[in-house]
Amino acid sequence: MSIDSPLYGKHVVLGISGGIAAYKSAVLARLLVKAGAEVQVIMTPSAREFITPLTMSTLTGKPVISEFFTANTGEWHSHVDLGLWADIFLVAPATACTLAKMATGVADNMLVTSYLSTRAKVFVAPAMDFDMMAHRSTARNLRTLESDGVSIIEAAEGELASHLCGKGRMAEPADIVSALEKYLASEKTLAGKHVLVTAGPTYERIDPVRFIGNFSTGKMGYAVAEEAAARGARVTLVSGPVSLSAVHPSIHVVLVESAYEMLVAARAAFDSADIAIMSAAVADYAPLHASEHKIKREHQSECVLSLKANPDIAATLGAAKHAGQFLAGFALETDNEHANAVEKMERKHLDMIVMNSLRDEGAGFGTDTNKVTIYCAGGEKREFSLKSKAEVAADILNTIEECVARQA
Ligand code: CTP
Repeated sequence: MSIDSPLYGKHVVLGISGGIAAYKSAVLARLLVKAGAEVQVIMTPSAREFITPLTMSTLTGKPVISEFFTANTGEWHSHVDLGLWADIFLVAPATACTLAKMATGVADNMLVTSYLSTRAKVFVAPAMDFDMMAHRSTARNLRTLESDGVSIIEAAEGELASHLCGKGRMAEPADIVSALEKYLASEKTLAGKHVLVTAGPTYERIDPVRFIGNFSTGKMGYAVAEEAAARGARVTLVSGPVSLSAVHPSIHVVLVESAYEMLVAARAAFDSADIAIMSAAVADYAPLHASEHKIKREHQSECVLSLKANPDIAATLGAAKHAGQFLAGFALETDNEHANAVEKMERKHLDMIVMNSLRDEGAGFGTDTNKVTIYCAGGEKREFSLKSKAEVAADILNTIEECVARQA
């Protein structure tokens, strides 16, 4: 597997329609898997006449889908789920019939139905006899698909199954993979950048068995780190104690416990960071003295814990920030949200602050969703609807990229 390929970790739906070039789809699936993609094959019923689902499922490690439901169990295959799962939706080979169905929305099989449900970038690699390829109807359908945003991976000229020569051979699998990689590379908007993310809670020790902490689970920060890595960045994720693990290989996780440890790790990474995103829920106070021994109850009716203020990591980095560095923070508020967020942004010298309010259902700690308003130092305000934390991470990085481009 190649972690250098832009296909690494991507979800690719490989739609196979019924043409002789379907035999090349086995090599194509193999190359996609080798590049690190997760591949889900959908075959039209006629594609199964040309290549067996067993071949494709063996190569991809996933059962092939070709019907709306499994005949013997009645298990329903959701075309919507498949469409949403995909980062890339590739139809190779795309026959004249499948192209026509895609162009006109004739959703009578799992492949076309999933195509109509997907939000992913779609590629088709046409393959057919050259007179079919040259027909006005095919040309019209390809034009329609192109105007619908579908990218056509042009068929090559050569000898065809009919032994006639002309344009109609499916592009070679390696060329199809290159086309996908080229597209994905153009999306690597953070290639060459170092992004620092803090995430999770901090634990401040009271004694060997107790700590002061908070309810942060780290989900938002980990989602931001994954999104930055998917955009090509090298990511340092300084994480407090959480039960998550980072998936993308470009994420270097530095595990810490206390605010002080988080400060040391964040400062070390900040020097070379282009972008820093402070999403950790740092404890504001720590016990003045952590006891080396377990504090005994000793029948006391009260126990007074003296606390000292923790360092403010965001503010420390804000004071050390040099030209060209972009620093973003979070503000989790319960009231007076707008004023509190903007005040924090200014006080800590942040370039941007992401505000979420505990008054919004589905926002805050532990949930898989969040609802944020982003304030930029220039005065811009962007309000977003309730979304998955992965989508919120994309909104945050889109906003950062736009701000950075404006600053340049
Ligand atoms: N932050 C930090 N270090 C701290 C406290 C906060 O880096 N010791 C960062 C958080 O990661 C976040 C931003 O500062 O990006 C705002 O955090 P928040 O807890 O809302 O701010 P506080 O300054 O602690 O304000 P409050 O009085 O609301 O707790």
